Amino acid sequence: MRTIGLASDHAGYPLKEHIKEWLTANGYEYKDFGTNSTDSCDYPQFGHALATAVENGECHTGIAICGTGNGINMSVNHHQGIRGALCWMPEIAELARQHNDANILVMPGRFIDNDTAEKCVKTFLETEFEGGRHQRRIDAIPCK
Ligand code: RB5
Repeated sequence: MRTIGLASDHAGYPLKEHIKEWLTANGYEYKDFGTNSTDSCDYPQFGHALATAVENGECHTGIAICGTGNGINMSVNHHQGIRGALCWMPEIAELARQHNDANILVMPGRFIDNDTAEKCVKTFLETEFEGGRHQRRIDAIPCK
């Protein structure tokens, strides 16, 4: 069973809770790295906890959500083993897996509806990396 890690700030909390219900209904295990309410908080704390768990293999894939998606995406992408992809439509989530081998799906909680977010999650979790020329490109992403 692949464990999916979840993290959000207060702005992403409602969507995170919705996605947890969707994951359970669709047979996925998850681990929630917070936050645990809509009280104002700082997204890096939760993004870093999730990114560390994906890097060390505790979680197979991550889902990270803040208001725009940008702050938590910047946070997770500071980790060398992470490729976080900001997605707001399933077609982008599909390409993030096929071309970028993204391992954290990032969504903008204040700018995406629940149905579209569910489709992004389903697509992201079910789509394989294509490899080939894309492997060369992702290998060149880390700063040497
Ligand atoms: C919180 O107000 C908001 O700044 C945060 O969720 C995110 O959008 C930052 O990038």
